[in-house]
Amino acid sequence: MAEELKILKQGAEAKLYICKYLDRPTLIKERFKKNYRHPDLDATITKERIKNEARSIVRCKTAGVRTPSLYLVDFERRRIYMQHFENSITVKDFIINIVKKTEQNDAGDTENVLNSVATMIGHTVKKLHENNIIHGDLTTSNMLLVEKKPKGTDDDARWLQINNIELVMIDFGLSYVDSSTEDMGVDLYVLERALISTHNDFPNLFNKILDAYKNYSKHNNVKEILAKFEDVRARGRKRTMVG
Ligand SMILES: Nc1ncnc2c1ncn2[C@@H]1O[C@H](COP(=O)(O)OP(=O)(O)O)[C@@H](O)[C@H]1O
Ligand SMILES: [Mg+2]
Repeated sequence: MAEELKILKQGAEAKLYICKYLDRPTLIKERFKKNYRHPDLDATITKERIKNEARSIVRCKTAGVRTPSLYLVDFERRRIYMQHFENSITVKDFIINIVKKTEQNDAGDTENVLNSVATMIGHTVKKLHENNIIHGDLTTSNMLLVEKKPKGTDDDARWLQINNIELVMIDFGLSYVDSSTEDMGVDLYVLERALISTHNDFPNLFNKILDAYKNYSKHNNVKEILAKFEDVRARGRKRTMVG
């Protein structure tokens, strides 16, 4: 297989390349070796992460949660090949670069757009949990906004056309299938912590997400999940006060 790879990003766990695979824009996530781990353990962990990612992508498809399509898994080379969204922005960059900038220019509807994005996030996380998918690393870097119909420009304003935007979840390496309400509560707590550290200038964001999560459907265990979330949060608070 002749491949021409271009490096896109180097993360903490993986190198990301882009290429064409079967003529489609493809992202290759290649998990690299960690030298501080015993080689056997490292191989086991890497394989586990790749399996988690592939499994959850497939499960999300059934659940109706948008993710990149899975193209190929190559355990030998520690790679996963998936659909590359060329017209996308992480929710993190959307908030930091688009929302803030347009807010400063007082371009009107940004607050509504951000609220709509928060609603999409709440609904999507709820859909994951209703299908017993625990994401394990819910952060705004692991959520993409994708243009449904690419405008073919790189104008910031295209990200404010909320009807032309969909939310795509990525980075399922730490995900797993479980029906435990506690684990769902922890998933929400991880997201809250991530929002506090990355977007502390939007203190209402998490509440908006949580409202959408509650209201998306009347799944009978939502009360229990929220109670677990409160427990985990209280424990976290105690920990930070002591430590
Ligand atoms: N399918 C994709 N299409 C477009 N961009 C992507 C895609 N997958 C990942 N990215 C970009 O690469 C970054 C890192 O990918 P991710 O899967 O989260 O790996 P990491 O383990 O390094 O966090 C994301 O935050 C996003 O900016
Ligand atoms: Mg990530």
